[in-house]
Amino acid sequence: MNINRIISSNIDAILDLEFQKIYEFIEEKYLHYDKCFASEMNQAYDNNTDFFTILDIKNKKHLSFLFKLMLLFDKYILTKAFLGVFNFLERNDIELSGVLKALKIANSTNDILYAKENFNVFIKELNFAYESEEDPEKLNYILKRYIFSELQMSQHNKDQYNNLISIFKECLIPQNSFLDIDFFNDFLKDALESDKFIDNWKEKIKFFNKKVYKTDFIINERYKNTIENIKNISFDDILRLCYNELKGKGVQNTTNHGKKLLESDEELMDYIRRYGDMHKEKLIGSFKKIKDHLEQYDKINIIDYACGQAMATLNLVDFIKNNDLKCKIEEVILIEPSQNALARAVLHSKCFLPNSKISFVPKYLNDLVDEDLSFKNPTLPTLQLFSNILDMEEVKLNNDLYSCISSSLSLKNIFVCVSPRISSISNNRLDIFYMHFKEYYQARQISNESYGREQRGHTKYEQIFEVIK
Ligand SMILES: C[S@@+](CC[C@H](N)C(=O)[O-])C[C@H]1O[C@@H](n2cnc3c(N)ncnc32)[C@H](O)[C@@H]1O
Repeated sequence: MNINRIISSNIDAILDLEFQKIYEFIEEKYLHYDKCFASEMNQAYDNNTDFFTILDIKNKKHLSFLFKLMLLFDKYILTKAFLGVFNFLERNDIELSGVLKALKIANSTNDILYAKENFNVFIKELNFAYESEEDPEKLNYILKRYIFSELQMSQHNKDQYNNLISIFKECLIPQNSFLDIDFFNDFLKDALESDKFIDNWKEKIKFFNKKVYKTDFIINERYKNTIENIKNISFDDILRLCYNELKGKGVQNTTNHGKKLLESDEELMDYIRRYGDMHKEKLIGSFKKIKDHLEQYDKINIIDYACGQAMATLNLVDFIKNNDLKCKIEEVILIEPSQNALARAVLHSKCFLPNSKISFVPKYLNDLVDEDLSFKNPTLPTLQLFSNILDMEEVKLNNDLYSCISSSLSLKNIFVCVSPRISSISNNRLDIFYMHFKEYYQARQISNESYGREQRGHTKYEQIFEVIK
């Protein structure tokens, strides 16, 4: 693949033929900054500035491509190209997230006279994105880049440069909940020595490396004993236990909407305490849509991808019990990179399903191999659970992942993919995931519910579908 093939006047036809290849190519260039590619792309774009206007935004693949492309343009600082796609989407009434609106401000030529006003609008958009459950690490990175590039542009005008630092200091208040205030206090202190600061950050600023969290294996014996001694355990018992254990303790919210790997006992319980009720409501809402299917099956297998502490599996077990469904769960495969969360997922699942086989895979989704997803009885209908994971950009929707999931398919499969409704970009990831299976198998959509905070105090975007192999 090369960028001239992508930035071309028949991109619509090329996408129809090679969407997955292009998607993965752009993702790779986005994740790994490539200097040569930057100039190739610049040149290709200069030769064909409105190539994307032939695309049909109602086509989910075209839309997905445009979102990816816009982020790529932003990463490689092709500001005109970024704004071109942004305006095209806006003209076509596509809902643009807080992150994209903030990036639009970052990519525009902003009048220094309105530096404070612009910065405040920029921060407002980031706050809005945070409320929509966007990853705070990403928001802090976008903010860092904005501050850096504004300062870099004023580097040779001392008064202007210092005035900008004062504005940033004044506006960055801890009330912005996403803000890593300690980092920015130091960042702005370092910025006072302008030349050294710009030199130091010029290259580094291009890379957004998410923190790598270590996860040593701990299992809290007290928690284990309490859980094992609860008769007829339900998810509400776990919720209650987590509330009680943390009562009176001021636990700082480090769970990052569950996007980071949870480490300590407290973080694990805090995640359930903060999000348990909401996830339960969302999951039960989704399971209701597949009740008719579950009624038809005597036995099923389950794969719970990025299971965390197995909230999706546990709520499914409760749902089956509470609705007197005869469907038995024969085997569960739990996949999760945080060893501590996985240890709890296994503990919980064994207590909820004492007669089922519980297997576990301590991995990231992109490290899975076919053997990880094999069942003792592979002919049973399979429930493929993706709870609050497909929206996360860290999960690469590449051919390796698709082929591995495909290897686990039995004759009948139901995919339950539930996420928050963060932005059209994250919703689109669930859509193209469904479309992949629709393209290769006989797939039928069961539900595509979507609602915002106004309705129930939380957001939801789901894709539920059946795949017949
Ligand atoms: C928002 S939580 C959802 C957990 C669980 N499915 C639920 O609904 O409660 C996201 C989970 O994905 C895990 N995770 C993060 N990055 C991942 C990746 N690249 N592959 C697989 N899991 C990942 C985290 O450890 C966390 O448990």
